[in-house]
Amino acid sequence: MYVCLCRGVTDGHIREAISEGCCSYRDVRQATGVAGQCGKCACEAKNVVRKELAKLGTLAQQSQLQSLAYSAA
Ligand code: FES
Repeated sequence: MYVCLCRGVTDGHIREAISEGCCSYRDVRQATGVAGQCGKCACEAKNVVRKELAKLGTLAQQSQLQSLAYSAA
């Protein structure tokens, strides 16, 4: 789905930027150019970034819990 029509940035581009190391909206904006023109997409872009980072945070927490479970066993 296109998030930014001006720059042709999709939600997939944003997820890819995060998977390649971006860890904030500012990083994603620099990497993809999202919201760099009219700015109407900024709220949606921030939402996509927020959800993706939250998902990764949840996965990291699950991984840490699994590591603790293995080490406790
Ligand atoms: Fe993203 Fe215009 S729609 S800058």
